[in-house]
Amino acid sequence: MRNDAPVGVFDSGLGGLTVVREIIRQLPEEQIVYFGDTARVPYGSKSQSTVIHYTEQILNFLYTREVKAIVVACNTVSAYALEEVKDSVPVPIIGVVIPGARVAAHATVNGRVGVIGTEATVQSGLYGRTIRDLAPDVQVYSKACPLFVPLVEEGLWKDPVTTEIAARYLKDLKDADVDTLIMGCTHYPLLRSTIREVMGEHVTLVNPAYETAVELRRTLERYDLMPESGKTADISEHSFYVSDDPERFRRFASGVLKTEIRLPEKIAIEEF
Ligand code: DGL
Repeated sequence: MRNDAPVGVFDSGLGGLTVVREIIRQLPEEQIVYFGDTARVPYGSKSQSTVIHYTEQILNFLYTREVKAIVVACNTVSAYALEEVKDSVPVPIIGVVIPGARVAAHATVNGRVGVIGTEATVQSGLYGRTIRDLAPDVQVYSKACPLFVPLVEEGLWKDPVTTEIAARYLKDLKDADVDTLIMGCTHYPLLRSTIREVMGEHVTLVNPAYETAVELRRTLERYDLMPESGKTADISEHSFYVSDDPERFRRFASGVLKTEIRLPEKIAIEEF
């Protein structure tokens, strides 16, 4: 594998861009190949076998782009499919759940951690198991927030409707007195200010993207895959692919990354 090969990153749609943003910040010399499965989003309400099938296709696609490592920028895939598919392509694959769980286990002071995510992520119980393995005394309270993904995809990041829905979803976690809350879906950091307003300043909000980028660096170092040039990659060197509506993706991505990206290429992911 070449050191100057790109890193593959994927999500069911747009949410994984919050992880791309963090990789660009921490590893600016890396080139990124991003795939967003915009035709088949959301994954969070689909069955495990469907998510595994979609994930295999995406890994096969990214492998054709000659990536040196793959970041699963989707909690649903990390929780539901990663264990099953991790050996299907011969490059290191990193998920977001284990890095996020690690941060929360260390951050909590009162031993009460909340997890919000898709129905699939919550149902998998992976955050709870991972946190308890690291810190057996920590209590984990989980809540699925299925309307958050469509609200993000509709651009309602700061809207009274979103605040109202967040207040309902987060009530049980507030009542449970969690002092740490994992935003266990890569779409949710885009709702950070709403979640912060509802939960209050005293609750630590964990965005697993930060620790995932740290984990990516560790993995590239371990496999001796860090780029040698030391040159910051220009935004035009990153490639974006989607399974539907490139123009909509471009508008959204430019908002998240705060810079214009090239029009993504639409691909037929079911052929991989
Ligand atoms: N961004 C995905 C995640 O982190 C969820 C979106 C979906 O339901 O497809 O779980």
